[in-house]
Amino acid sequence: MSGALDSVDSTCACRRAKVATMAPSEQVLDLLPDSAEVSEGRITVAGMALGEIAERFGTPAYVIDVATFRNRARAMREGLALRWASSEVLFASKSLPALAMYELAAGEGLSVDVAGDGELRLALAAGVDPERIYFHGNAKTCGELELATNSGVGTIIVDNADELERLRHLVPRGSRQDVLVRLLPGVTAPTHPSQETGGPASKFGLPLEQAVALMQEITDSPNLRLRGVHVHIGSQILETGPFAEAVRRMAAVGAHDVYDLGGGLGVRYTPDERAPSIDEYLDALTGAAREVLPPGSKLLIEPGRSLVASAGVTLYRVLSVKRTGRTFVAVDGGMADNLDVALTGQRYEALVDGRARSPGTVTCTVVGRQCESGDKLIEEISLPDPAAGDLLVMLVTGAYSYTMANNYNGAYIPPLIFAEHGNCHEATRRQRFQDILALQHPLGLEASSHRHT
Ligand code: LLP
Repeated sequence: MSGALDSVDSTCACRRAKVATMAPSEQVLDLLPDSAEVSEGRITVAGMALGEIAERFGTPAYVIDVATFRNRARAMREGLALRWASSEVLFASKSLPALAMYELAAGEGLSVDVAGDGELRLALAAGVDPERIYFHGNAKTCGELELATNSGVGTIIVDNADELERLRHLVPRGSRQDVLVRLLPGVTAPTHPSQETGGPASKFGLPLEQAVALMQEITDSPNLRLRGVHVHIGSQILETGPFAEAVRRMAAVGAHDVYDLGGGLGVRYTPDERAPSIDEYLDALTGAAREVLPPGSKLLIEPGRSLVASAGVTLYRVLSVKRTGRTFVAVDGGMADNLDVALTGQRYEALVDGRARSPGTVTCTVVGRQCESGDKLIEEISLPDPAAGDLLVMLVTGAYSYTMANNYNGAYIPPLIFAEHGNCHEATRRQRFQDILALQHPLGLEASSHRHT
């Protein structure tokens, strides 16, 4: 057990040591997944050449290094277990909702958090023990609550009084559904506003006094069992202080068996960003928990991004390099497969396969093919002689890229390729036109009437 942790730590330490002495383009290499190697400018992940993956599966394609996920999942699970006697790590499956991911998470001893019918059904289909599924959402429908209770979902995280009312009617007499109550801790984390969920203006959870009243109702309900409380203050948070503060606020709602501290640990997307290590994050959480929470209670955490972001890269083919006022490198993807840039302005890095160690020569803007000027993947980056036909490898795209992929301008959702030990597994195939057509019901108008209307 500690062997696995040691190897994770030493990998991180040697990666950090490299950073201090490296030229700028080398620092970008440090953002590649754990198993990546670069030889003569060509990049491999898990022993598979990215160029070959692109040939075989086409582009755009998401590639996930399974080893990175495993290293980080183990560091999270074992690190928390070392610090707190009773604990559980839940994979926040919204960050990468694919059957293969649910299988991997369960295989690494993680429980899963789902938020919605589709994620719940995927978890069940992947064979996740329903008892280890935690069901989230600020607006759960009756159908979803029914599915959850009928499927034996272990814990439902109640967001509001209307949801509680529905749940009380749905859970059959004689059975008892475990629930947590989502608190709104009033902690505004330093992140993009769309990713901030713990401040007073958030739509998620209930302010502490209201939460306490709701908890009383739950305690009075014969078919529900209040296990504890939950907070989640946001995503891509690069400081540990706000996490600790949220834990301290939880103490105000009395002693419980379970404290679910949510997810949100940020990751490094560019060499100049600094993200807390898993150890620093866990120290902050458990340090605060030791101050204010009952020692015998169970701690849950729900990491998503911090487990999968750095495991992923996206492969694009460069379609054109256009020099107008600026140099635009246009690729065969865009905001349809990476909405994050448009949504949050997150900065990403990219490498040109075959010239991954070459210094940048041209300052350019990497743009996608969707009909928006905001469809920029990277606002400004220096790339080595970019040209049509190049394979562009965008880094740290494992979290929320596949999740938020969409069909804008008829884009097809790219495949998710899982790479491990020299093998590739097509975890989800590329969407095809037939998949889209299958949802369509034409009006069936005659071609001639089209002309007249
Ligand atoms: N738990 C709950 C209740 C959540 O809502 C989330 C993420 C997590 C855990 C996992 O957070 P993580 O560890 O991945 O930060 N669309 C955004 C990301 C939204 C995150 C939503 N909730 C993006 O642009 O990347």
